[in-house]
Amino acid sequence: MRLENYAIRVWSFVAIIWLLRDSHALFKFTNIKCTCYEKSYCELRRCELKLLGRGIVALFLHIQNNQLPINTSVFTLTLFRRLNGYKPFLYNVTVDNCSFMKHKKRYPYFNLVHDAMRNFTNLNHTCPYSHDIIVNRMVLNDNMMAKLPLPTGFYKLKFNWKTGGVWRGVIEVFVEVNLGFD
Ligand SMILES: *[C@@H]1O[C@H](CO)[C@@H](O)[C@H](O)[C@H]1NC(C)=O
Ligand SMILES: *[C@@H]1O[C@H](CO)[C@@H](O)[C@H](O)[C@H]1NC(C)=O
Ligand SMILES: *[C@@H]1O[C@H](CO)[C@@H](O)[C@H](O)[C@H]1NC(C)=O
Ligand SMILES: *[C@@H]1O[C@H](CO)[C@@H](O)[C@H](O)[C@H]1NC(C)=O
Ligand SMILES: *[C@@H]1O[C@H](CO)[C@@H](O)[C@H](O)[C@H]1NC(C)=O
Repeated sequence: MRLENYAIRVWSFVAIIWLLRDSHALFKFTNIKCTCYEKSYCELRRCELKLLGRGIVALFLHIQNNQLPINTSVFTLTLFRRLNGYKPFLYNVTVDNCSFMKHKKRYPYFNLVHDAMRNFTNLNHTCPYSHDIIVNRMVLNDNMMAKLPLPTGFYKLKFNWKTGGVWRGVIEVFVEVNLGFD
């Protein structure tokens, strides 16, 4: 009896390792949509996904800011899951006044997303921002999935930002989570 349990445990351990190794099937970008509401405030230079090869999808984003510097802002980040249309799912976070970079611990979910982006963006410092916003060749990896376990499915991350009391734009990133079963 004891031996049987042991065997099952070892098998599932091996299975999990195998799933994590096949990272590109686990978690990938499927689409991106960007909108800047007012050209006098911001313009999109780039907003696209590119297949780098063998299921590896990279995200490229370049928002040109036409009114600098950005001193105060509000970000909201909402997660949706596709069931019968996209429905809000688990997270809806609002970060005021660029407070995120100063108080990362207060925003654990935002922090996860930031951690995943940090190596690929110039938005990884505190306000004010006096430059364009760039995300270059961002790819998803196993670490992010391990920290944010989600069931197999299709998701949308919606990112909205506001400065001077006015909503400036929205970026929607679509992600597929495929754990290889279900
Ligand atoms: C941002 O702050 C700088 C210096 O602190 C100031 O010169 C500038 O006018 C501010 N910009 C806005 C849009 O409030
Ligand atoms: C998320 O939170 C913001 C601010 O509290 C709110 O305006 C928005 O309606 C919420 N979105 C969803 C989908 O619940
Ligand atoms: C953000 O900062 C501005 C200027 O410092 C202030 O007027 C405003 O009340 C702050 N908003 C929040 C939500 O803290
Ligand atoms: C970011 O880069 C560091 C150093 O190269 C690396 O250890 C870390 O895993 C990277 N993080 C992500 C999310 O790619
Ligand atoms: C911010 O991103 C740049 C590359 O865009 C990188 O060189 C730098 O180490 C990053 N800083 C932090 C704090 O992650």
